[in-house]
Amino acid sequence: MAFLILVVLFVVIKLSVYVLLQSAPEGFFRAEHIGSRDRETPDQVLSPQINASDDYLWEALPAVAPSPVGNPITREKIQLGKALFFDKNLSADRSLSCASCHELEKYAGGDGAEVSTGIWGKKGDRNAPTVWNSAFQKRLFWDGRARSLEQQAIQPLLNPIEMGMKSEIEIEKRVQEQPHYPDLFSRAFEGDTEISIDKIVKAIASYERTLITNDSPYDEFVRGDVSALTSQQLSGMALFEKVGCVHCHFGPNFSAASVFSDGLELRAFPANPDQLGAEYNFGNDGEKNTVWRVPSLRNVALTGPWLHNGQVDDLKEVVRIMAKAQLGKSKTREFQWVEHRLGVIENPDLTEQQVEDIVAFLHALSSRRLVQAAIE
Ligand code: HEC
Ligand code: HEC
Repeated sequence: MAFLILVVLFVVIKLSVYVLLQSAPEGFFRAEHIGSRDRETPDQVLSPQINASDDYLWEALPAVAPSPVGNPITREKIQLGKALFFDKNLSADRSLSCASCHELEKYAGGDGAEVSTGIWGKKGDRNAPTVWNSAFQKRLFWDGRARSLEQQAIQPLLNPIEMGMKSEIEIEKRVQEQPHYPDLFSRAFEGDTEISIDKIVKAIASYERTLITNDSPYDEFVRGDVSALTSQQLSGMALFEKVGCVHCHFGPNFSAASVFSDGLELRAFPANPDQLGAEYNFGNDGEKNTVWRVPSLRNVALTGPWLHNGQVDDLKEVVRIMAKAQLGKSKTREFQWVEHRLGVIENPDLTEQQVEDIVAFLHALSSRRLVQAAIE
């Protein structure tokens, strides 16, 4: 008899534990909600740990970018680099220059398309990031695979779906063909007229180091003009820090992958698998790459559509995705009352007002000159 009672008791206990487990919101027992840090990758450190600090330093962007040892910047090198950047002879069918996909004025240094179109109309699978202020990034490309502008510049030239040149020698030949280059090379490289791929990328990188925008309302504000930001932008700026965007987008170039930072340059994205991100094929499209360079947010309001596949054309939606995928903002709306009652998840979604305020702040990172150029 006693045995039977024991068995019944056992079954009842087991059943109630099962029912309890079933009723918990999805993901309730995952490490990030319990708060155990040792099982988490750094990306899954969620906003409860990213507390707003009183001493976050807002900085303006300097007017000059650093150049590496071995490629000091000179006026002559910049001039040569500029000629190369705009030269369509550097693509296999002579139809594209660097500037074709990086339109400096019209699209604020990108091309305004979801993904870029290379020679012979070949479509890539990545959105063209802006070249403005890329001089301050120590990791380039969406996946951060290049570590300098010199390393970066050779890749589009040889990429079969971008400029499609067959070899470095072929690129050198295209440059040698044109009568105005020997003189430009000679002036840029101490009287040496020899044209080499090494010099070509050095000159292009030098020119790119002059593509700097520090004339945004944000920079003006940081330099002391308190009227440069609207009250909504100020509220967005406070939120940008408080909710934890600065955890990854920090420093004068708003990126952990900038020369100003020694933080984590690459981040899992989506760090917290999320329905909203999945709708735009993030982390859901068989992408082999799951780790991405933290991009700069300067001029971001001018460089849509956004994110590495260019699938999102509404900046508010990008902010919502970031909040959910990178800051673990609550995705289990229907269970919010349980979470609040239990006090376990202190990480509710951003309100629409907060999203709009953050977007207003992102607009304050746009260069006044480029905003003007985009209108004209
Ligand atoms: C067919 C369009 C196309 C052409 C032509 C092109 N690019 Fe790009 N560029 C892109 C795309 C797309 C990416 C992002 C690719 C990736 O992340 O894998 C990119 C990335 C870059 C970046 C990295 C920016 C960052 O923030 O990471 C720089 C710098 C750049 N290109 C400079 C150049 C230069 C210099 C040339 C000419 C030698 C050039 N591009 C030619 C489309 C193009
Ligand atoms: C854990 C790091 C992390 C945090 C926190 C984070 N981001 Fe990001 N952000 C990234 C990464 C990585 C990308 C690039 C994603 C990709 O591959 O498309 C990105 C991309 C973006 C972009 C698109 C840039 C472009 O050129 O398309 C915007 C805008 C942005 N973040 C804003 C924010 C805002 C606003 C917040 C705060 C609500 C935030 N981010 C929080 C890492 C982070």
